[in-house]
Amino acid sequence: MTSRDKPRLRYFEEASGQRHITADDRYLYSREKPRYRANIIGTGTIGQEHMRVASMLDRIAIHGIYDERASSADVAAEEYSRHSEDTLLRYQDIESACSDPNADVLFICTPNFSHIDVLETAARSGKPIFLEKPMATTLADARRVVEIANDYPAFIQVGLQYRYKAAYVEARHEVLARKTLGAIKTIGMSEYRPPFLDKVGQWNKFAEYSGGTLVEKCCHYFDMLNLFAESEPERIYATGTQAVNFTRFEKDGKAADIDDCAMVVIDYKNGIHASFTLNMFCPHFYEELVICGEKGRLVASETFDFQRHNSANSRLKVELGELAASRYSDVAYTQPIEQSGHHGATFFEHVALADQLDGHSVDSATPLEGLWSIVIAAAAQESIKSGQPVIVDDFISHNELNPVLGR
Ligand SMILES: NC(=O)c1ccc[n+]([C@@H]2O[C@H](COP(=O)([O-])OP(=O)(O)OC[C@H]3O[C@@H](n4cnc5c(N)ncnc54)[C@H](O)[C@@H]3O)[C@@H](O)[C@H]2O)c1
Repeated sequence: MTSRDKPRLRYFEEASGQRHITADDRYLYSREKPRYRANIIGTGTIGQEHMRVASMLDRIAIHGIYDERASSADVAAEEYSRHSEDTLLRYQDIESACSDPNADVLFICTPNFSHIDVLETAARSGKPIFLEKPMATTLADARRVVEIANDYPAFIQVGLQYRYKAAYVEARHEVLARKTLGAIKTIGMSEYRPPFLDKVGQWNKFAEYSGGTLVEKCCHYFDMLNLFAESEPERIYATGTQAVNFTRFEKDGKAADIDDCAMVVIDYKNGIHASFTLNMFCPHFYEELVICGEKGRLVASETFDFQRHNSANSRLKVELGELAASRYSDVAYTQPIEQSGHHGATFFEHVALADQLDGHSVDSATPLEGLWSIVIAAAAQESIKSGQPVIVDDFISHNELNPVLGR
């Protein structure tokens, strides 16, 4: 049995009553030597999350880190030392971090606007790359990412990790594998949450650096809609604004310009109608997926009321009326996995990465899927600006995306 399928009891592994169990007697808690070593570029919030999750999963060791701000690298190194005894290399420049022959895979965890430049440098290594979402802030840069990936000797995995949230994994199984609802007709997703958190340099308060709210954050949900629709978008309508958040926030004389609420409607070419609602001035996190098919309805939801609980509460409802048994269930990963980041989605994203390094085929996001998530986001932002629906084929031609989409 390998670390891929051996059961682990992480809850007990670190428990005070189990620390006396020496390495010789550790079976359920034993750790395999990771087969791969990763370098992390950008050690802010998500870079640190990847370091924490990697040390928990034990299939990819963290070899070294590089951040252009020493303060971020200092904090990341200190955080890492709390849950790993492994030594960590600290690079002084990005080229050394990317070209070190002792690293097998590179993580790009820098702000959105820098992804394209960092990727160009990283891609000179020929190593497998994990690239955080959104893979770019503009369609031109997203097109370039796909071009790089198409000619690349290794894989590039995009960090669209909501695919691995517990409730959505189960929803995919019900709707796409079991086909419980029959043919899907409508899909609605929504996210209610507090404002964007503080970031290094506050890059997420400006569309120029983040790509805009629908690109920066909502690419996750557009990716989910695309997965469930299994079709290309035909027409997109949207409305949205900066209603409440950061309306008095300025940096270097520039006012924050990111929307905090939006409603997006997507007509897919196969006749599925979809919608997405965003609201970012709520006290806690709530997201929901509602899918209706010819045979019933599925609701997958995740609530994270961080002021009262430190775990998410995920639910799945499959309502089939008189046709078959309905199901109302809680969905959860184990507590240590849920608490390691993004309610366990980051952990399973790492499982997919390690599987992909092992040569297995996985369902993680490709650069092409990353591009589609940005096409919807950018078209929605265009519709908000113009007040008009966007015809996606025209939008794609206008942005010269046909060649990378294989058309
Ligand atoms: N998958 C997810 O759900 C998820 C969650 C959070 C963030 N992200 C993405 O991860 C990326 C980073 O977000 P964050 O929240 O960690 O931001 P952050 O501001 O907390 O950290 C970014 C770090 O990158 C460093 N940096 C900036 N430019 C750099 C460069 N050229 N080279 C090296 N280091 C550089 C900064 O100094 C900072 O320490 C963004 O693209 C964001 O959208 C994804």
